[in-house]
Amino acid sequence: MKVLMLNGSSKKDGNTYLSLLEIGKQLEKEGIEYEIFQIGTAPVCDCIGCRQCTENGCVFGEDDGVNEFIKKAREADGFVFGTPVYYAHPSGRIQSFLDRVFYSGADAFRFKTGASVAVARRGGTTASFDALNKYFGITGMCVAGSTYWNITHGAAPGEVLEDKEGLQTMRNLARNMAWMLKCFEAGKKAGISLPKPEAGARTNFIR
Ligand SMILES: Cc1cc2nc3c(=O)[nH]c(=O)nc-3n(C[C@H](O)[C@H](O)[C@H](O)COP(=O)(O)O)c2cc1C
Repeated sequence: MKVLMLNGSSKKDGNTYLSLLEIGKQLEKEGIEYEIFQIGTAPVCDCIGCRQCTENGCVFGEDDGVNEFIKKAREADGFVFGTPVYYAHPSGRIQSFLDRVFYSGADAFRFKTGASVAVARRGGTTASFDALNKYFGITGMCVAGSTYWNITHGAAPGEVLEDKEGLQTMRNLARNMAWMLKCFEAGKKAGISLPKPEAGARTNFIR
């Protein structure tokens, strides 16, 4: 089983990465593989709502990592999205990235487990955490929690390693996610099938 993580900071080795790494190291101890996908520094296109998403993914194609991430997501069993806090919200690049990932590739996530992590010097963590959790709720995903909301604190890269409670929260999140993954696996083996959601009603509040 594998957890795919997304580092929504352009800093490859910054505090968001180190928080995700703490989760990854604990997942490994629980027998779960992980990969940290770097969003990088190249421009990330925003969704333009063209609704031209095809079997091959978003029309922006190879312009950035979105389609590559969706491909990896199809093979993964769980997800952690990590963001630095910018003006009390997730980084613009992770929001643009995930809007397109979920608009064109939601099927890669349905009924899988997910968690988000927000990293800040001081404020805006829970608002950022809430924003990223929205992707899970609309996609029928099961959210893994921890012993606190999944937040860590640090300003300069590396400072987060001094946030002992934050790192403990990351490890406990990994333990809970590993447990959920093992339960899902056991359920599958026992023949429990996935739920079949109703479809059809789409009222848009215009009448
Ligand atoms: C544009 C920008 C806006 C920021 N806004 C906030 C903020 O609202 N609250 C806060 O506590 N820290 C804020 N920070 C600090 C970062 O969240 C913090 O340094 C974090 O550790 C960066 O993570 P990284 O090393 O993974 O990039 C901001 C940083 C930048 C560059």
